[in-house]
This record gives sequence, structure tokens and C-alpha cells, in this order.
Amino acid sequence: MDEKRYYIDLDAITTREKQALTHNIHPYPAKYIPQIPGSLIDYLGIHAHSIIMDPFCGSGTTLLEAAIRGHDAIGTDSNPIATLISRTKCTILSKDQCAHIDKFLSRLDRFDATDDSFIVIPDFLNRDHWFQENMQKELGYIRGLIDSVADSYTADFLRTAFSAIIVKSSNQESDTRWRAKNKNLPDGFALMEFKKKVLDMLCRMRQLEQYNIGTVTVHTQDSRYVDFIQDGSVACSITSPPYMNSFDYYLYHKLRMYWLGYNHYEVQKKEIGSRNKHCDNGCGIDAYVDSIFQVVEQVYRKLMAHGFFCVVIGDSIYKDELIHMDQVYNEIAHCAGFTTKEIFSFDQRKYTRAFTPNLQTVDKKSHIMIFQK
Ligand SMILES: C[S@@+](CC[C@H](N)C(=O)[O-])C[C@H]1O[C@@H](n2cnc3c(N)ncnc32)[C@H](O)[C@@H]1O
Repeated sequence: MDEKRYYIDLDAITTREKQALTHNIHPYPAKYIPQIPGSLIDYLGIHAHSIIMDPFCGSGTTLLEAAIRGHDAIGTDSNPIATLISRTKCTILSKDQCAHIDKFLSRLDRFDATDDSFIVIPDFLNRDHWFQENMQKELGYIRGLIDSVADSYTADFLRTAFSAIIVKSSNQESDTRWRAKNKNLPDGFALMEFKKKVLDMLCRMRQLEQYNIGTVTVHTQDSRYVDFIQDGSVACSITSPPYMNSFDYYLYHKLRMYWLGYNHYEVQKKEIGSRNKHCDNGCGIDAYVDSIFQVVEQVYRKLMAHGFFCVVIGDSIYKDELIHMDQVYNEIAHCAGFTTKEIFSFDQRKYTRAFTPNLQTVDKKSHIMIFQK
């Protein structure tokens, strides 16, 4: 009989399934579909009530998939927008907290553009270039109201909804295009989008109540330094590391960070693999490998004996050369002490849209790699 191997039929997964529960409450670049970490947890037969870790948790896909299976999950990410979304995605608010949100929404109707008392508009570079005046006032009003919410879970929920509507309410062309265009957004647009977002999130959050979800802890942290996680405590780590030279997560969330009061320069410094570091500032592949190795070493330490480490990574282009990331990660994992159990590769072009169309012709693959301690 053939040995059982990991397999996932990506074509068979519907959009509705990909966006189920709270998975789609906020846009996030390069997030993986929940079925990938979910199927890995099932395939590996992780014991009930284990700890599952994601050192690059992004919007919390692994964390939620672990939690709905009754596991506890620990996520770290250097980007505070990522950890905000992750926390909200995995939290079920109480009836009292939901009642507070209902009251909050009713206060939106009292918005008065001529009354500045509740309006908090942060000062940032090119604010008038990126935001119409009416949108600044509406966003400032929402921000001011959120600032007065004392309960941190309720405030996080509202901040996540707020963050999710920032780009729509700005002049930024789209989430993936860092270019301004005149959208002529009518009065009331940001308030209405926010309300719609909150109601949708509440509805999705209620769907989590059917699960006995595990405890999820999320840290805003450079994952090269995670001493606060106990060595040998984690059963399995499933992650999709930042691709080399593909994204700038700090840039993607820059307008959000301005409005939420985060320092994007600090985030930029810690970000591994960014286009800014590799393309504009000439960091080579060695710098990427060194940083990833530090994180993989940490994961090795945190895993219990025979614990699993799963990496989902795509090939990269660097200086016109195709970098086979399965080879790179194999070497990193072996150096850290892991053995390779399985590698499942698929054509990346079929599942992701390249931002640079000519790269669409390059034979790039994505890899789901399973290592064991
Ligand atoms: C491919 S994304 C992860 C997406 C995630 N799997 C999801 O479904 O949302 C990679 C993440 O690595 C994070 N990252 C980059 N450098 C980091 C560092 N030094 N420490 C922790 N996280 C980092 C980025 O902020 C980004 O969220």
C-alpha cells in the first residue's frame, strides 16, 4: 500500500470556504487560505489541546484554524496591524461587549462635522494628499469615539473595523496600489463603511460560537526574539514567512498605521524580506537567509521533541534570477536541526496574481514543506 502523503486540492476550495468565519474581516497581503494550515493540523494528527505556533502570524489564519480545532495558539508578528487583526479574529465578545458596540454604532448618527470635540485627526505627512477633508473628519470622529472605549477587547474589535475601512475611505487607489486618485467620496461614506464593517464582523464572530475555541495569545514582536515562549512547549508550528523581495507589509498598512497611532518606521526596520530592503537598499539573499534562520532556530527551541514545523513559501525572483525557495528552506531547516518529512509543490502562477505581469511567465512554484524536530 502507498504511504499516506500530504495533499490538498486547491481547485476544489470555494471562495466562500476560503472566506469562512472571521477569516476575511480585514484585507491582508499574501495571506494563505485557511484550508492550508487547517489541513496540515488534521493531517499531522496533532494531539488535542496542544499548542500551535505561528511566528509570522500575519492576519491570524493559522491561529484561528488551530483554535477552532480546540488547540491553544501563539502568534507573533512584527506588524501591529497584523496582531490587531489576529487578536480580533480569534476573540468571541461577550453579550455585554456586543451591547456596548451597538451603543457605539448609535453614536455614529450624532456626527456633526462642525463640532470638533470628539474628532481626533492625527498629524501625518501628506495627509491632505491621501484623504479628502470630509473623510478626515469622519475618520477622526470614529477614532475619537474608539479612544474613549475602556474595554481593550471591544476597542480592538472596533479598531480592526476602523483599520479595514481606511484605504477605502482614502484617495489610495486600492490596497495594492500606492497611488492617489480622486474618488470624490460623498459625506457619510466612512461612517457608513465603518458601520457595515462592524455589523459584518459581529455576524462572523457569532459563527465562532459553535466551536469550543482554544486560547489564542498574540504578541507584536520581532520573531527572532521570542524568549517569552517556553522552550519545548509547542507541538507544531505552521507558518508562511515573508517572501523575499515581494512585499512591503509596512507600506501596505502605512495609512492604517498613521490613523491608529503606530510608528511605521519601527515596523519597517524589523520587517524581513521587504522589497525596500532587497530591491531599493540592495540587501542580498544572505541577509534574508540569516534572518529566517534566526526565526527557524527559535521555532526549533520552542517545539517539543518530534514536533512539526510546516512552512508555506513561494519561489522568489531576485536580480532577474529565480530562487527556488524549497531548496533555501530545506537548507535552513537542516542547519537548525530539522529533518524533512514531505514537500508538496504547486504552480504559484495559478493561484496568485503577479503585480509585475511579465513575471507571470516565470515558472514559480509554491511549496508546503513539513519538517520534524
Ligand atoms: C506571508 S505573511 C503571513 C500571512 C499569514 N500567514 C496570514 O494568513 O495572514 C508574513 C508576515 O511576516 C511578518 N514579518 C516580517 N518580518 C517579521 C519579523 N522580523 N518578525 C515577525 N514577523 C515578521 C509580516 O509582518 C507578515 O505579516
